[in-house]
Amino acid sequence: MQNHCICTGLAAMRERIVGYDRQVPLLDGRLVSYVNLDNAASTPPLVDVVDAIERFLPYYSSVHRGTGFKSRLSTVAYDQAHEIIARFVNANLETQTVIFGKNTTEAINKLAHRLDLGRDDVVITTLLEHHSNDLPWRDHAQVVHVKATPEGRMDEADFDRKLAQHAGKVALVAVAGASNVTGFLQPIHRLARKAHAAGAQILVDAAQMAPHRAIDMKPDDDPAHLDFVVLSAHKMYAPFGTGALIGPKGVFLRDGPEYSGGGTVRVVTETEVYWADMPDRDEAGSPNVVGAVAMAVAAQVLMDVGMEHVAAHEEELVTYALRRLPEVPGMKIYGETDPARAGEKVGVIPWNLGQISHFLVAAILGYEGGIGVRSGCFCAHPYVVHLLGLDEAQVTAWRTQFLGGDKSNMPGMVRISFGCYNTTSDIDRLIEMLQRVARGDYKGEYRLEPSSGEYVPVGYRDALADYFLLES
Ligand SMILES: Cc1ncc(COP(=O)(O)O)c(C=O)c1O
Repeated sequence: MQNHCICTGLAAMRERIVGYDRQVPLLDGRLVSYVNLDNAASTPPLVDVVDAIERFLPYYSSVHRGTGFKSRLSTVAYDQAHEIIARFVNANLETQTVIFGKNTTEAINKLAHRLDLGRDDVVITTLLEHHSNDLPWRDHAQVVHVKATPEGRMDEADFDRKLAQHAGKVALVAVAGASNVTGFLQPIHRLARKAHAAGAQILVDAAQMAPHRAIDMKPDDDPAHLDFVVLSAHKMYAPFGTGALIGPKGVFLRDGPEYSGGGTVRVVTETEVYWADMPDRDEAGSPNVVGAVAMAVAAQVLMDVGMEHVAAHEEELVTYALRRLPEVPGMKIYGETDPARAGEKVGVIPWNLGQISHFLVAAILGYEGGIGVRSGCFCAHPYVVHLLGLDEAQVTAWRTQFLGGDKSNMPGMVRISFGCYNTTSDIDRLIEMLQRVARGDYKGEYRLEPSSGEYVPVGYRDALADYFLLES
């Protein structure tokens, strides 16, 4: 298969990905190299990250409270990790802080607890959001969703209307930098200007943006600055359990943390607590130092490669995919379909193949093509329902069935998503398999498991123990 990619600058990235050439078994017993088109869910680790961790681990020790050499070294590495993540999003550590935690979801929940929100406050979010940037706000404020256009872009006229309608009450605008379903980029700096003019702050959920585009929080006195940014390391080639929340120190210093305990204090008496400075106050307990180091190394690699090169490479992949996918009979792409507008989104493309269940297509790609994709609603139910154009009756019928324990008819799509190491030959492999699926040329007999909605090939067992299994 020919590799049509002309982005030679990033061709070498493939070799910097752990396991990029790993062979995986197919249903018919053959082995093929795995094609990972599920990077929006989680990316594989960079070799640079694993190498750095291997070099770091012999010196790993507790941070901040130990006096031995290893503790001193680990403390400096952990502090440096904060600085590197600040640089990655162009935050100023004089006024801002980087708080490490588990992931984007935890970071948004922390912010929802730490912002001084009341029931009268409004948080404006959009229909495009991942549940993680919607549900946490519902417990703390009145949440207003900005509509999406029919093809799935944020409806900015509706944003303006809602901002005006709730004037004086909007505490926060909470938007994804890029959608995890359609890949659409949101005009975050324009929205920031509008939010600030209305007296609100802005949070950018950069989980999906961070691996694809540069993030610039801009100086505090710039009306287009971003107040808060959250991101997950496992989506930026460092899957070691870390995420980060970056925002103004002042917001966190005015109060105690939502989790208290070791590491969060300066002085404790039997009756009083004097909280630590940032970020310690909001990083309760022993931190994930290894995860933070991994995240920092990944951020450093992305900065060294240059996010503009990553963006250019991925635009080329999206252009190529949008040209080739329609060759498959029955292909229906959601969101942007025009290859000429590939630059308006990150490398995430959702689609369906005729009337074939998205669960079944994804299963065949995995079992018979060695291609990893994701299918379903991608933790963005309202947005996917909108993109599919389902009416209330269809949604109610599906919901009732689902809540009764049967996911067989769950609506959804198949999603392919690119990392900076994918090439057009990966897309060629996908198209070749989809052509087969479209003409019914696949070997397995697939049985639907109603409780999960998944299709599994009858009579086949994954030989997982030949690859990796824990002793049990
Ligand atoms: C846009 C967006 N926000 C938030 C999340 C949640 O990220 P995490 O699972 O790392 O907390 C995701 C994960 O897919 C996402 O794509």
